[in-house]
Amino acid sequence: MLVPSLGVFGVSAIFYLHSRVKFEGKILLWKSPSEEKPVESRKLSGLILKNALDAKEQHKKYELVQRWLSLDVALKNQIKACLLQTLSSPVPDARSTASQVIAKVAGIELPHKQWPELIGSLLSNTNQVPPHVKQATLETLGYMCEEVAPEVVDQDQVNKILTAVVQGMKANEGNNEVILSATQALYNALGFAQANFSNDMERNYIMRVVCEATLSPEVKIRQAAFECLVSIGSIYYEKLALYIQDIFNVTSKAVREDVEPVALQAIEFWSSICDEEIDILDEYGSDFTPDSEVPCYYFIKQAIPALVPMLLETLLKQEEDQDQDESAWNLAMAGGTCLGLVARTVGDDIVPLVMPFIEENITKSDWRQREAATYAFGSILEGPSPDKLMPIVNVALNFMLTALTNDPSSHVKDTTAWTLGRIFEFLHGSMVETPIITPANCQQIITVLLQSMQDVPNVAEKVCGALYFLAQGYEDVDSSSPLTPYFQAIVQSLLNATHREDAGESRLRTAAYETLNEVVRCSTGETTHLILELVQVIMTELHKSLESQKLSSDEKEKQNELQGLLCGCLQVIIQKLGASDGTKHAFLQYADQIMDLFLRVFASRNATVHEEAMLSIGALAYTTGPDFTKYMPEFYKYLEMGLQNFEEYQVCAVTVGVVGDICRALEDKILPYCDGIMTQLLKDLSSNQLHRSVKPPIFSCFGDITLAIGENFEKYLMYAMPMLQSAAELSARTSGADDEMIEYTNLLRNGILEAYSGILQGFKNSPKTQLLIPHASHILQFLDRMYMEKDMDDVVMKTAIGVLGDLADTLGSNVGSLIQQSLSSKEFLNECLSSDDHLIKESAEWAKLAISHAISF
Ligand SMILES: *[C@@H]1O[C@H](CO)[C@@H](O)[C@H](O)[C@H]1NC(C)=O
Ligand SMILES: *[C@@H]1O[C@H](CO)[C@@H](O)[C@H](O)[C@H]1NC(C)=O
Ligand SMILES: *[C@@H]1O[C@H](CO)[C@@H](O)[C@H](O)[C@H]1NC(C)=O
Ligand SMILES: *[C@@H]1O[C@H](CO)[C@@H](O)[C@H](O)[C@H]1NC(C)=O
Ligand SMILES: *[C@@H]1O[C@H](CO)[C@@H](O)[C@H](O)[C@H]1NC(C)=O
Repeated sequence: MLVPSLGVFGVSAIFYLHSRVKFEGKILLWKSPSEEKPVESRKLSGLILKNALDAKEQHKKYELVQRWLSLDVALKNQIKACLLQTLSSPVPDARSTASQVIAKVAGIELPHKQWPELIGSLLSNTNQVPPHVKQATLETLGYMCEEVAPEVVDQDQVNKILTAVVQGMKANEGNNEVILSATQALYNALGFAQANFSNDMERNYIMRVVCEATLSPEVKIRQAAFECLVSIGSIYYEKLALYIQDIFNVTSKAVREDVEPVALQAIEFWSSICDEEIDILDEYGSDFTPDSEVPCYYFIKQAIPALVPMLLETLLKQEEDQDQDESAWNLAMAGGTCLGLVARTVGDDIVPLVMPFIEENITKSDWRQREAATYAFGSILEGPSPDKLMPIVNVALNFMLTALTNDPSSHVKDTTAWTLGRIFEFLHGSMVETPIITPANCQQIITVLLQSMQDVPNVAEKVCGALYFLAQGYEDVDSSSPLTPYFQAIVQSLLNATHREDAGESRLRTAAYETLNEVVRCSTGETTHLILELVQVIMTELHKSLESQKLSSDEKEKQNELQGLLCGCLQVIIQKLGASDGTKHAFLQYADQIMDLFLRVFASRNATVHEEAMLSIGALAYTTGPDFTKYMPEFYKYLEMGLQNFEEYQVCAVTVGVVGDICRALEDKILPYCDGIMTQLLKDLSSNQLHRSVKPPIFSCFGDITLAIGENFEKYLMYAMPMLQSAAELSARTSGADDEMIEYTNLLRNGILEAYSGILQGFKNSPKTQLLIPHASHILQFLDRMYMEKDMDDVVMKTAIGVLGDLADTLGSNVGSLIQQSLSSKEFLNECLSSDDHLIKESAEWAKLAISHAISF
């Protein structure tokens, strides 16, 4: 395929034939920007250029960045000049495309201190130029702020950018396009405004301009201005005290009078303040001091006398068809969500503000009032103390059950069933003295719920949710559950729901299976015989689903989904019955048949592996133990297929996990398959197409394999160890990484450490142990470096200190002095010994003991 010319920029290019082709100099320059090119092709060529600079996938993006950086400078300058020139084009699409591409280039070049004149030349565009140029320039500044990190731009330039943006929001009466682009740019630039937000005068000024923009006659500007406020609420929470009253005034006007997109943002502001305060209160509890890093200002607590009535009003603005449309989001839903957050922020204080609304409106003849009152009630069930809510809920329960049966409106029934689910979720009280659900009302509750399972799909789906939490509340009762007498009826009713003609609507079928799984998972020994019957029912269903042939692709997808649900259900049953010796024995009679069905599910597909079936097989292997060996000859090809499937990386990750399950089940009987498995795992790791999330489980899997086959892992050491070592070196340092990267790095470290731990333990007591001695020093360096970075999470810390113990335990006096010289054996070990986390402490005590043995020889 030849790529269309880059007409937008006067640049015609033959590049990007396929992704592997280098960004070579095959770019021909035209003499001048070609305004005569058709808009579509200009947009397309801009898009192509943008995609040549950025990609979603991390490693691909890295490649593209390197490619751009290594491009000939003169050529890049020409492209950049064309891009800047295009900002003056009379064609809006060309300008907008150029804006985005400039931002992408800036995202690459500014961190490398290249293109220093960019910001200056953009800023010179914000004065004395035609409005359309100014608009495009502000848009570019906005995109640029989205692309580059604040520390890349020096403070002087930041000031100028902010000044230009805020000026753009103000001084352009009459040109809404400019004001809109400026407001949207401010949204992205807020992260840069730290300095200005610390200065009272400048902050006052910015806040005034934003609040004024919320009153603009233009809807889009008002919406963008509220988006800025939402973002200011979370970035600059601690600076809001002076403005909160004004903000309340503008948000409440918007919520009450404005069009929905604006009103939604105004509600979102309060939701975001709730999020901030919930986080702060979670972190400090009630004992933060005036010098805590971010104090809680209790904005919500102060605002509730006015905020709660405003939110209650929104609940009355339901849409007629909101229950059917799963993607619906409207004012009533946003208001209810915000009310729920407010309840979590202020706790008991919300109850007296909402109760009158509920009491007065829940019996009204207009369905909207009854629904709003019920929704309000359901929304405040998380947050206030059980002491405050229990008396109310005890009275309300009967009312709710009656409404679920008798209310003429399905909207009301839908919300009522949801509210019952929330009651069971938050106030189940199975462990307290006066629980909500008693032997006396349990029968009535179940009867009503099962009856309503036959209601319209959206109501039945909410009823499934209520049953789900009802069952979950009895998760921890040991021997006897109040649900036992109803177990069979509940299961029957859920299975019945899965067979409904309309079970595809409102996710009813999925909800019914999820609830079935929870009911099984939380059941007690009294119902084992019924679960054994359920096994046969589900097997029959799965068998039936395999019979249908010659399906259309739509039907195939449905069949696939159903098989996923059925395999998921079998997985829960296998885990439940496998958990105790008595029930496991009864279950094992079905193992052959079940495995046969799973293999048929695999065989019915081409070249892809069914994820849920794979997961269920992991559970089966865990339950059958070494007997799983007999399934391996047939199953192995699907295992390999799963490991090869890095396009569907979840499938790959799941399969890697199943390899671990099988290692534990088969122990050394897995040996004949190890060459194949290891080859595949090493291939995955070397592929630059592998999604990064699969790497940590693959490393852990090395550990599982060694634990299973012991010193037989010898022949893989020469491949596995260098990979572990280089991954360890990369993951030891995290400076400059964002939260997401740190989280991933910790997962990666944990995988690497689990590999080391498994390998060390697997070789223990073998004469081949000495093969590991040369690796001890880099393992210790890895531990030391992680310790110095001070950003290990608790899981990594526990695994890391365990690896120190494994080193001492397996290699003993061979590494005693090496260990003694390490930082890990001193400061890190001491820190772990005094940890509050008992798992870390336990692991550290064991390591200390192992080290003292190692050095006493
Ligand atoms: C931001 O701060 C700088 C430096 O104090 C100032 O020059 C600039 O005007 C401020 N911008 C705004 C929009 O307040
Ligand atoms: C907010 O609105 C109320 C009532 O409309 C008014 O009395 C009050 O002065 C306003 N507060 C601010 C800070 O604008
Ligand atoms: C009940 O709802 C109506 C709106 O339909 C509202 O005006 C009234 O204030 C509500 N009652 C209470 C006590 O809040
Ligand atoms: C199953 O559904 C049918 C039709 O909706 C209903 O008539 C029957 O009573 C239901 N059975 C159970 C056990 O819920
Ligand atoms: C799998 O692919 C082969 C060849 O492309 C085809 O003949 C066969 O029908 C496919 N099987 C299924 C179950 O799709």
